[in-house]
Parts: sequence; C-alpha cells; structure tokens
Amino acid sequence: QSRWEKPDRWHIGIIGGSGLADGVGLEDAQEIEVSSPFGEASGPVTVGTLDGVRFTFLARHGAGHRLPPHEVNYRANVDVLKRCGVTDVLSLSAIGSLQENLAPGHFIAIDQFIDRTVHRGHSFFGPGMVAHVSLADPVCPMLASMAARAGEKAGATVHRGGCYLAMEGPQFSTRAESRLYRQWGADVIGMTGMPEARLCREAELPYAMLGMITDYDAWREEEQGVEVSEVLEVMHANAATARNAVRALAAFLPERRPPNPIDRALDHALVTAPAARD
Ligand code: ADE
Repeated sequence: QSRWEKPDRWHIGIIGGSGLADGVGLEDAQEIEVSSPFGEASGPVTVGTLDGVRFTFLARHGAGHRLPPHEVNYRANVDVLKRCGVTDVLSLSAIGSLQENLAPGHFIAIDQFIDRTVHRGHSFFGPGMVAHVSLADPVCPMLASMAARAGEKAGATVHRGGCYLAMEGPQFSTRAESRLYRQWGADVIGMTGMPEARLCREAELPYAMLGMITDYDAWREEEQGVEVSEVLEVMHANAATARNAVRALAAFLPERRPPNPIDRALDHALVTAPAARD
C-alpha cells in the first residue's frame, strides 16, 4: 500500500481532556462519526476551522465525561484523528503538580514522559507485524514551543518543558508514590498522556501536550491529598484560557507546514519482512 503523504497545510487534532468536553469553539463546526478497526473512539469528532486553519476536536472522556482514563480507547482515538487527516496532535489535559514552582492555575508544555500505565492497548502493532518506533523524544519540540507561546498569548503562566508521569488511576496517588515520582524527576502527573503520546508516534503524528495544572499532588505533607472538587474548580477556571490558547495557536502557525521527521517515524521501525506484511 502506498503511504499517505501529508499536505503542506496544517490540520491540528485537538484531544480535549477534563473540562474541555464542549470543544474549543471551532468555526463552521461539523460533528462527524468516524469508525475505526480499533473499536469505538470516545465519541464523534468536531471538524472546523480557526483563523483559516483546519482543526479536528475529540473529547477524550466523551460527552458528559463518561469514560474514566483507564477505559478510554486510546488506539481508536488516535486512529480516528489520523483518518480525519490531521497532521499533528495537541493534547489539552488537566494535571497535578509534583514541584513547588508549578502552581495550580499555571500551564506547562511537557517534553518527557514516564509511563506507569498498565492496562491499556499501547501499540497499533501486534502479532504478525513488529515495529519499534523511537520514543526518546516523545514530544514534537516545534509544536510544543508554539503551544507554549499560544498559552502565554492567552494570558497563562506557561512553563516550558517538564516530565509527565502517566499513572493508571483512576485513584489518585498515595503519598509514598507521589514522593517516589518526585525522586524519579517527574514534574507533573496525569492519567491520560500515555499511551496517547506513544500511539501518536506510531501513527507518525507529531504530538505535544499543554497541561493545565489543577492541584499539588499528594507529596505535600501539610496538605490533604488530592480532592476531585479542587481539580474541577481549577479546571473550569482555566478552560477558557485553554480555548483561547488554541485560537492563538491558529494565528501563530506559519502558513505552510514544513515536513517533520516524525511524519516518517516508521521508516526505520518495521522489522517484519515485507512479504509477511499483508
Ligand atoms: N489530574 C489532575 N490532577 C491529577 C493528579 N494529582 N494525579 C493524577 N491525575 C491528575
């Protein structure tokens, strides 16, 4: 099969996490159902434009936030975005902080992951077809940098770079886990960034995450553990800023999308002999 050559125009896939189920205010918005051989995505996607740039939006937890992090079909979600023709993916996610200077209300454009998720379909490749993509740098620096600038333009304090610990959940961490993750060098913690980021790499989609910090995780002795009410309150207060950041991103994108090495991540990743690939 010949492979899809990406156009030189941007088409940004947005995966909206908690608090962003209502979308990002696209113009000419149209909701469409897209099916995937990987099963059911979290819901229909919304396609539309902002400032002349094409966007496709998908609510990660579905309408009415009905899917917990461990029941999201990450493979179907990424596959559906790919089928819509997105060139790049930006995730907007609520996250907890593991560092004092990363305060609730701030945003962070993360650049690394530690994956502690365990029960999720985490690869498009399976028996009969073996591929090992490089994940040393799981985030696209260009997209992350533009997302950070867009967050600043929307009025947020944005930290550039940071390591995201992906936990299985749905319970929050124990204090001991939270302290351990700090020792590992993690800066923020969430339940959804993986396997999303690794699947985007397998799908040859440059990925970035603009995280909205909602709480200090359980490592702070003087505080109670994480309460979901606190998370929801900060998230709702910041959802408008996240939407404005997407609008600002549309305005920042250069007219032409340059080729990105991640567009060809599979070039040297497939190890199954060509004859066996049918
Ligand atoms: N999402 C928001 N805050 C979180 C936390 N403290 N741990 C895991 N996921 C989160």
